[in-house]
Amino acid sequence: LRTRAGRVEVAEAPLPERQIRMRLLAGTARARVVAWGEHLSKSYGERSILSDASFKLRQGDRVALMGANGTGKTTLMRLLSGETFPDPPASEQAAPPTLQFAGGVTVASLDQIWHGLTPGEGLRAQFERRFGNRTNGLLGRAGFTEADWPKTPEQLSGGERARAGLALVSALRADVLLLDEPTNHLDVEALQALEGAVQAYAGAVVIVTHDRRFAREVATRLWVIEDRELREVAGWGAREYGDPARSLEGDPPPPPPPPTPRQRLGRLETRLGEVRRDLDALPGSLSGREEGRLRAQAHALQQELYALYAEVHAAPQWDEQVREPPLTVRAQRLGDWAGGGGGGMFWAAHDESCPHLAWDGRTLRFSGPVEAWYGAALLGGALRVLFERWNVGRAQLGEAGPVLTRRQYFERTGTVRPAGPPGWSPLPAAAPLLRSSG
Ligand SMILES: Nc1ncnc2c1ncn2[C@@H]1O[C@H](COP(=O)(O)OP(=O)(O)OP(=O)(O)O)[C@@H](O)[C@H]1O
Ligand SMILES: [Mg+2]
Repeated sequence: LRTRAGRVEVAEAPLPERQIRMRLLAGTARARVVAWGEHLSKSYGERSILSDASFKLRQGDRVALMGANGTGKTTLMRLLSGETFPDPPASEQAAPPTLQFAGGVTVASLDQIWHGLTPGEGLRAQFERRFGNRTNGLLGRAGFTEADWPKTPEQLSGGERARAGLALVSALRADVLLLDEPTNHLDVEALQALEGAVQAYAGAVVIVTHDRRFAREVATRLWVIEDRELREVAGWGAREYGDPARSLEGDPPPPPPPPTPRQRLGRLETRLGEVRRDLDALPGSLSGREEGRLRAQAHALQQELYALYAEVHAAPQWDEQVREPPLTVRAQRLGDWAGGGGGGMFWAAHDESCPHLAWDGRTLRFSGPVEAWYGAALLGGALRVLFERWNVGRAQLGEAGPVLTRRQYFERTGTVRPAGPPGWSPLPAAAPLLRSSG
């Protein structure tokens, strides 16, 4: 055995089994709200599956659609993709169903079974039919080799089928993606590639998945179907439900801000730690290929981490940081505080395009137009820093806005509990305040 082993040629370093590069390109539609529906019901025969669903989908929304088997997720996706139609109104008085896409919006969908592929047709043949000479590149990036080209979707493994389907939509440049369980059968590499691709996708996407970790990683909104109703869940682990179409009236809140570099840093460090642990914990038990794959993964994560470290540490320092859900508000003192000319700056994300609040020692001003929820959280955080930490006595909101005093603040937040009038509410619900001050 030793002699034979000596004859075996060993490659320099084990290469990853295959590399998947996935990129989902968005279309060019400019609408802010890309799709909306109301009074959507669906029954099969006597059995009602969905009842009076409404929703609104905005550019950039990443919706995870979850729910137990058979609750109607695929049915809703088929309604959205136009493969099936909503029931007509139950009576003449009932409002008719509407389902609309904004002008110019293109939609691509992957069904749960065939992932958008045509059964019976070879892999390369169906890509070539659609994408001509881009075929080889597309299939190569999705991890397919020549040996896979003649295979029909029936012959592909579940994971291969999912990858091929994703390669298909990646090339379509759609504004809305409807993906029904794309994560089924995907291995770790493919899952990570999909995660990154969805996060970077600029259009709107609805993904049915049973993978909570995946959903948590990529989604900005969470819809569930329960008791035939489509509901929006307020947050991870939350038990409160909202209405997925709440934004049909009034101004919708934008999706939560993307994770800050610091948050991404934490996640990457955890992931790298896990990969390293696998490498260390199992000496000898990994095949050469597996080990090579883990090493390549650790290397890629390390590179990404270096880039992030650079980004995070280039961000300016802050003096105070308070948590004002869903934001973390940071503040930096500016000017001459000892001489009585102190001001400050409050922000939630170190990003030029993100509105911030400036304090000139008297007045608090937003740097630009701001969504109510974002403004309320930023203002809430700023007031906490001003009154609780910087001991400021009073602050005026904008040029002609209300003046808030430190005493009032403490009374309202309950730090000092006065006998409040009926209907009294604590300050952090500052949204109405904001609106009244323009
Ligand atoms: N064409 C049909 N005719 C009759 N019943 C149907 C039809 N399509 C779906 N159903 C039924 O409607 C219910 C919802 O099906 P659907 O495929 O939407 O569930 P799902 O939430 O996607 O489930 P899963 O998580 O298993 O994919 C199921 O009970 C299913 O049997
Ligand atoms: Mg389904």
